Amino acid sequence: MRRRAFLLLAAAAGTQGCGSPSRPAAGRATGRPSDGGASGFANPVRIPPLLEPVVDSAGVKTFTLTAQRGRTEFLPGKPAPTWGFNGPYLGPTLRASRGDRVRVNVVNRIGEDTTVHWHGMRVPALMDGGPQRIIAPDATWSPHWTVEQPAATTWYHPHPHGYTVQHVYRGLAGMFLLDDPRSQALDLPRTYGVDDFPLIVQDKVLNDDGTLSEKRLDDSVFFLGDRILVNGTLDPHLKVGSQRVRLRILNASNSRLFHIGFADGRAFQVVGADAGLLPAPAQVDRISLSPAERAEIVVAFSPGESVILRSSGGRDPIDKGDFDLLKIIAADRLRPSSEVPDHLGTTPPIEVPADARVRGFRLDGDDEINGRDYAMDRIDEVVPAGAREIWEVEARDHAHNFHIHEVALRVLDIDGSPPPQWYRSQKDTVFLPAKSKVRLAVEFGHFTDPRTPYMFHCHILRHEDRGMMGQFVIVEPGTEAEVPRTLPTGHAGPHG
Ligand code: C2O
Ligand code: CU
Ligand code: CU
Repeated sequence: MRRRAFLLLAAAAGTQGCGSPSRPAAGRATGRPSDGGASGFANPVRIPPLLEPVVDSAGVKTFTLTAQRGRTEFLPGKPAPTWGFNGPYLGPTLRASRGDRVRVNVVNRIGEDTTVHWHGMRVPALMDGGPQRIIAPDATWSPHWTVEQPAATTWYHPHPHGYTVQHVYRGLAGMFLLDDPRSQALDLPRTYGVDDFPLIVQDKVLNDDGTLSEKRLDDSVFFLGDRILVNGTLDPHLKVGSQRVRLRILNASNSRLFHIGFADGRAFQVVGADAGLLPAPAQVDRISLSPAERAEIVVAFSPGESVILRSSGGRDPIDKGDFDLLKIIAADRLRPSSEVPDHLGTTPPIEVPADARVRGFRLDGDDEINGRDYAMDRIDEVVPAGAREIWEVEARDHAHNFHIHEVALRVLDIDGSPPPQWYRSQKDTVFLPAKSKVRLAVEFGHFTDPRTPYMFHCHILRHEDRGMMGQFVIVEPGTEAEVPRTLPTGHAGPHG
């Protein structure tokens, strides 16, 4: 089983892995949104608009996100009820730079409680938008923070305990891009919507009337859809006008693991993972992304060609089936782009001290961590500010993944073997094949708050909703023993 786990990730490493041609041959039977069909790739992929902030005299950038209900025509002429931020499905892209002070007014117009979490953003616990931070119907929540982290592709989504499955599936998700002076100066494609594109990939089940089927959302270990949306577009294509293009790929599915590459097997360069740029580009022909993971890739095109971005199925229930994600059509004339620089990020790899604290987490069934369900009034772990620790996470029966709020982490090994090069970079979410064990070097931040927890959990949304989630607080070093491990019942923080 150790070997199997390693091979799964080695396959993801493509050219960088063991080199065995064990991946499925390109061109075998594909999923429904596939090449061939009469409407194959008929729809221009929607690019979420960049949301302009209002900047006040103190320089604070204020964004407004309204969670609302709307209608979306996934199938032409068949509008379906969906949810989105500032629109009917998904949300706009927010963008800020290191050092910026930002505020987001989150307005809830969906008619039921929700929360909004900044996945990958390093913020004080009160601003994090976990399950405690309920936004009641018609209320507004206005978290604010200073961006103090390197450039990264982060995202936002609801986190209400027990309903994250539905809220994300119906369309509440969007990207939040962070820049820093270093990333701005790099010769990488970085013009949003021109040579730098967000790709939010999701699997769905569509009814014949065009509505999103929720029938199996709750009743199986893994919800798996057979239709793929990219940025909310079914059967999408993307026209590009530059020789090199950067794709920021986010797996915003409920459960599905994608193994993403090009139908012709071409190599590309991974330049960023969840929590920032890689130190150097990693050349691969395939990457695996489980729910909530991100990768930034740069791929080169020849004038006039078309190529399909595809996910190839594996053997786990969670990644069954091949799917065409997107057809990319290069213009007959392409703007020249520079080669990807040899050096990218400058963030040093996360190192842990020799005597680092080691904590263990066992993911059991579809709802337990270390034998317990999530409890909103229980603090599971107390971590001193600025700690660097080793977290060992083990998946028992099924594949899972593991996400920790607030932190940056580095995957040390998976079943004892180092992961692919690109997977060793700064991340916040990691995939665990069934019956595998990963060791993570975790860097915690400096925002202390003994009464407001951050979450750690499986990001397979049904598992999270069922209780495969725990809570930790970050406290002043030396005060760990004094921290109450129980929160007052009904501790939900101020509404609105
Ligand atoms: Cu993407 Cu706890 O979240
Ligand atoms: Cu998160
Ligand atoms: Cu899980």
